[in-house]
Amino acid sequence: MSTGGRGFQFQEPLLFEISREGRQGFSLPSSTKPRREPPEALRRLNDPRLPELSEPDVVRHFTRLSQWNFSIDTNFYPLGSCTMKHNPRVNEEVARYTGFAHVHPYQPDETVQGCLALMHALERYLAEISGMDAVTLQPAAGAHGELTGILLIRAFQTATGNPRRKILIPDSAHGTNPATASMVGYEAVPVKTGREGRTLASVIAQEMNEDVAGLMITNPNTLGLYETEIRDICDIVHSKGGLVYGDGANMNALLSKARPGDAGIDVLHINLHKTFTTPHGGGGPGAGPVAVKKTLEPYLPVPRVVQKENGFAVEHNRPQSVGRVKSFFGNFGMLVRAYTYIREMGPEGLKRVTELAVLNANYVRARLKDSYHLPFETGQMHEVVFSDKFQKENGVTTIDVAKRLMDYGFAPPTIYFPLVVFGAIMIEPTETESKETLDRFCDAMIAIAEEAKKDPELLRKAPYQTKLRRLDEAKAARELKLRFDFTNKR
Ligand SMILES: Cc1ncc(COP(=O)(O)O)c(C=O)c1O
Repeated sequence: MSTGGRGFQFQEPLLFEISREGRQGFSLPSSTKPRREPPEALRRLNDPRLPELSEPDVVRHFTRLSQWNFSIDTNFYPLGSCTMKHNPRVNEEVARYTGFAHVHPYQPDETVQGCLALMHALERYLAEISGMDAVTLQPAAGAHGELTGILLIRAFQTATGNPRRKILIPDSAHGTNPATASMVGYEAVPVKTGREGRTLASVIAQEMNEDVAGLMITNPNTLGLYETEIRDICDIVHSKGGLVYGDGANMNALLSKARPGDAGIDVLHINLHKTFTTPHGGGGPGAGPVAVKKTLEPYLPVPRVVQKENGFAVEHNRPQSVGRVKSFFGNFGMLVRAYTYIREMGPEGLKRVTELAVLNANYVRARLKDSYHLPFETGQMHEVVFSDKFQKENGVTTIDVAKRLMDYGFAPPTIYFPLVVFGAIMIEPTETESKETLDRFCDAMIAIAEEAKKDPELLRKAPYQTKLRRLDEAKAARELKLRFDFTNKR
C-alpha cells in the first residue's frame, strides 16, 4: 500500500556534539575603530559555551531536524479540533512585504496608515463573518481569546451591579474553557450533554439562575456536531441576565453558512491559526481575535484602531476597557496572513471551504464507520469522533491505533479527546485534502482495524518505522531533558 510519506528519518546529534574547537560560521572584516570594552563589572567570568560550527553544519543540522517531524507541509495531518490546514504561500509573501514586516509599533499613526487600514478591515470582515458588531485582534491564541472574552463578561456583569459567581460549560468543551473561567475567578460548572452529544436547552434552563454570569458553548461542539438548540439556549441564558460566550474555534464548519451572532452569541473568539490558515508552527505565534455584540464593545481591550475623517488612528483612552491583553497590537504578521486569506477567498470561497471541510469529514466517517465505533450517530460537521470500542475486544486501544498509523506514514489524529468519548479518535481532514489522500488514510485505518483483529500484539508494540519506537508517554512528558550536560564533554 502507498503511504503518506514518513517523518522521523535521521539520527541527528546535538549541535554541541558536532562542535569542533575553532570552527567558525561567520567572517567579519576586522574593525578599524578602536575596541571599547564593557565595564569590568558587566564582563562575563567565562566564555559562553556555544557550539563552534560552520554555516553548512548548522544549516544541515536544522534542515535535517525539520524533517524529523510530521508537518502540514509534509503529510496529511488529521488532528481533530486543531484544524491543521494548508497555509497558502501567498499569505507568506504578503506578510513579508517591507511595509508590513519592517514597521515598528511605536511609529506615528500617519506613517502606518496601511497597517491600521488592514487591521480595521480585518476587524470588519471578522465581524461580518461571525455576525457580531466589534472585534479586537489582540489575543494571541484561542485560549487567550477566551480569557479576554470572559474578562469582558465579568466587566459587563460588574458594571451592571454584580460580577456573579459561575460560568456554565457543557462537558464536551475544550479543556481551555473551564481553565479560562477559573482564571477569571469564576466557578466552572459542568453541564451534561444529551444522549445525542448536544447541549440541551432543557438542561441549561435547570442550571441557569441569577448567580450565573454566562455560558461558554462551542459550536459546532468538540464532537463535531452542530448545537441545534443554540437559539433557545441563548434566550434562556439572556432571560436570567447571563451572557453567552461562543467558542468559535470550529468556525471552519460555519463560514458563510451560519453566523454565531445571529444565533444569540454575545462574545466569540476565532482562531486565525485554525480557520484562517495562519501557521500553528511551534505553538504559535497565533491569533485569537474576539468578536462582541454592541453591549460589550466599551470593554474591549485597548488600543483600538478607529477610523477618523483624515485616516486611521490608535485610540487608548477608553475608560471602560479591560485594558491591554497583549503587547502592541497582537501578532500583526498573523493578521496580515488572515486578511490575505479572506481577500483571496471572498464570501463564495469561504463558503466552499466549509462545504468541502464538512464533506471530507463525512467521507471519512462513511468509510471508517464499519471499522471503528461511532459513539454518536447523528450528522457530522467538519470533524468526526470514533472510539476504540471494536478494537478493545482484542485488547487494542486508541493509543495503539495512533502509534501504528505512523508506520503507514500518517500523523496520528487527536486521541482521548473529547473526554466525553471513552478512547476517542478524533479526525479532522479539512477542506484541502484530495479524495486520493483521504482514501490512502482510510485504507490505512481499515488495514489497522484488520491487524487489530488478526495480530493485536503487532499494534501494541507499534510503531516500527519511526526513528524512536514506542515512548513511555508519562516519562516523556514529565522528565524532560532540556539541558545539555557538559560534564566530561569539553
Ligand atoms: C474548541 C476549542 N476551543 C479552544 C481552543 C484553544 O485554542 P488555542 O489552542 O489557540 O489556545 C481549541 C484549540 O484547538 C479548540 O479546539
